[in-house]
Amino acid sequence: MKTIVKKRSWAEPYKMKMVELLKMTTKQQRIRVMKEAGYNTFLLRSEDVYIDLLTDSGTNSMSDRQWGAFMQGDEAYAGSKSYYHFEEAVQKYYGYKYLIPTHQGRGAENILSKILIKKGDVVPGNMYFTTTRLHQELAGGKFVDIIIDEAHDANSEHPFKGNVDLNKLDAVVKKYGVEKIPYISIATNVNMAGGQPMSMQNIKELRAYTKKHGLRIIHDMTRVAENAYFIQQREKGYEKKDIKTIVKEICANTDGATMSAKKDALVNIGGFMATNEWDVFEEARNLVVVYEGLHTYGGLAGRDMEAIAIGIAESLDDNHQHARVGQVEYLGHKMMEFGIPIVKPIGGHGIFVDAKAFLPHLNQDQFPAQALAAEIYIDSGVRTMERGIVSAGRKSNGENYYPKLELVRFTIPRRVYTQAHMDVIAESAATVFDRRKSIKGLKMVYEPKYLRFFQARFEKL
Ligand code: F0G
Repeated sequence: MKTIVKKRSWAEPYKMKMVELLKMTTKQQRIRVMKEAGYNTFLLRSEDVYIDLLTDSGTNSMSDRQWGAFMQGDEAYAGSKSYYHFEEAVQKYYGYKYLIPTHQGRGAENILSKILIKKGDVVPGNMYFTTTRLHQELAGGKFVDIIIDEAHDANSEHPFKGNVDLNKLDAVVKKYGVEKIPYISIATNVNMAGGQPMSMQNIKELRAYTKKHGLRIIHDMTRVAENAYFIQQREKGYEKKDIKTIVKEICANTDGATMSAKKDALVNIGGFMATNEWDVFEEARNLVVVYEGLHTYGGLAGRDMEAIAIGIAESLDDNHQHARVGQVEYLGHKMMEFGIPIVKPIGGHGIFVDAKAFLPHLNQDQFPAQALAAEIYIDSGVRTMERGIVSAGRKSNGENYYPKLELVRFTIPRRVYTQAHMDVIAESAATVFDRRKSIKGLKMVYEPKYLRFFQARFEKL
């Protein structure tokens, strides 16, 4: 029998109940405000932005259930009911024993680094993340990259570019000795590599290795559900397992975690540290009162903790992740049809445009990704961000890091934009691609000491 429909489409497992109106700007206005913002998209006012792809962090749409739970937040200073709902969700869905709430991910990184890292320690990890590495360094540690080589190659189609290279890890262990390594730092769905997953096989091999050597694994689980989706789609033996089960299995192979709930967990603010070790928990419970707030709120309102508890459950729904990553893939395929060079395979939380390939006439000291993000904003009011040499910052000796990847990140907020928005974004990137030869580099005219990408200012060369 002949069928008319060749392939069935998916669609979002939700509908809209409220909308936020956006301001449209003219190109003249955008040229002016981009210059005023020192060619740094972080310094734009969001009012002047049409489609905001700066980050997927804290930019999620909450569900009616989450908003409803907001009204039930228990705002008691101590022993809030909402804290216990939050704790229950972390234990039930992630399987970690002890929870320390924090205002966001870096709050958890600060506390964890202070507890575990001593001066002179070495922390191997699967590619750096900006705040994670800075907290490791501020605590006296040194980060060593042990991700597989393919992760640094925008064109490698490796299905699990987030994987740890166990030979690299073994070399670090041999060079420094286990006593200098407080933990192995792994991120699920590696942000800086382009939202690339680790395989379950790699996680299990890492667990076996660390068990043998008596080493801890600390899990940056900011985007663990997106990683689990890729395992389900790509790894043999996981096709029939649901995301909930896969996430629990990932967590079970680690000893503790830090989490920015602003991503996967579908809220606008929040995070936590979790551990299975009583001693670490006890110290964290003590430090959290110094830096965040009492151990039953850690800088969050009761309503935030209610929303996170529900967001965690919603994030583990298979249909949600299919639509979430499906939308990112839709945008990525559109861009590829236009011939725009992007990191492959398409990642979980955004499209990462390869600025070195886009602007081959600029060298890395002319900040090609920074310049490209500014041009895309000027073209259409779409705000993206740099993930290249500016984000990488400087080593403690003052030298610039020169990351192999020089990328512009088109980060997709969860449950926020439509497929038509994706079309507009891809067409804007293609329009800028058409006139790529006319794009000039930038020079940095102001550089803050820490995490410079947030506040640095530039001028056109
Ligand atoms: N770890 C990862 C992998 C992250 O992506 C982030 C934040 C953090 C930790 C820190 O969490 O922001 O809640 O303090 N990433 C955001 C981004 C800022 O745009 O990628 P936070």
